[in-house]
Amino acid sequence: MKNHELMAIAMICLGAMIMLVGIINYRSNIRSSYHLFYKSSRNVHKLCMVYMLLMGFFLVGYLLIIYTIICDVPLCGAIFVGVIFLFGAVFVYLGTKLQAIMFYSINLNNDEIVRKNRQLDQTESATIYALAYQAEMRDTGTGKHLERTSEYLRILAEQMAVSSCYRNYLTPEYIADLLKSAPLHDIGKVGVPDAILKKEGKLSEAEFELIKDHCAMGEATLAKAEGRLDFRSFLVMAVTIARSHHEKWNGRGYPDGLRGTQIPLSARMMAIVDVYDALRSERCYKKAYSHDTAMEVIAAERGEHFDPAIVDAFLDVNQKIYQVSRRLVD
Ligand SMILES: [Fe+2]
Repeated sequence: MKNHELMAIAMICLGAMIMLVGIINYRSNIRSSYHLFYKSSRNVHKLCMVYMLLMGFFLVGYLLIIYTIICDVPLCGAIFVGVIFLFGAVFVYLGTKLQAIMFYSINLNNDEIVRKNRQLDQTESATIYALAYQAEMRDTGTGKHLERTSEYLRILAEQMAVSSCYRNYLTPEYIADLLKSAPLHDIGKVGVPDAILKKEGKLSEAEFELIKDHCAMGEATLAKAEGRLDFRSFLVMAVTIARSHHEKWNGRGYPDGLRGTQIPLSARMMAIVDVYDALRSERCYKKAYSHDTAMEVIAAERGEHFDPAIVDAFLDVNQKIYQVSRRLVD
């Protein structure tokens, strides 16, 4: 074998090795970066497969060239071909290294974004609770009502998401908005005078009218906040719940006297957990009901105060509700 043929074989072998390392690097880069391609991951996956296949063909080409030289199959400019292949392999190798650097940077940025989003979420939650506590402390004097109703609502929503006629509405996004909105349902109570809010004994008709205003006041407060945003946030649902959580399925609720499915689903769900908690809690005008009695009252209001499908789901999870009421007792 002539010298130039030996040189060509050496260069092609070196090229083949670099190509192999390039393929291994590429596989590892793609594996560690798939999570960055969330929505288009299927397309990216296909592209990567094609790219790897091409690199595989390239490698096979190297072996064929070595074969043509060893077996003396005529081929013009063997050294030239070897140099081209060597540069080709270096090119691919550099490409994979660049990809590794790029993905590493994206990963770093992504970690930072996830960390900041988590902090924002926690800040949002804390702000919601701070606002809601203000109204709650003036009324029942305890913040546990908010925690309990949020937990009841989560249990109810998860049950309805699998077994009620509303399961198509109860997407994870809907439930997340519901749980963020729930603590703000009575925020309008900050506008009700203490003398009425804390009055012992029966309210006069005029006083009750003022209490009713907390729905419109809550709606107005939250709508003002929502109006400052240029994207759709959970506050849209919070506005709805604040307005309609005292509506009744039979149309005898307030402030609008809505009936049946005219009442937004979120407000119908809020109504049942709010009433259950009120029944189970001691007030200046009544003693706390037992869990069984509270459930009997709710069952009796099926199709009257409450949506029948929601009552059914609530009764199905009544033991879980009971456990929460015991764990978060005042
Ligand atoms: Fe209320």
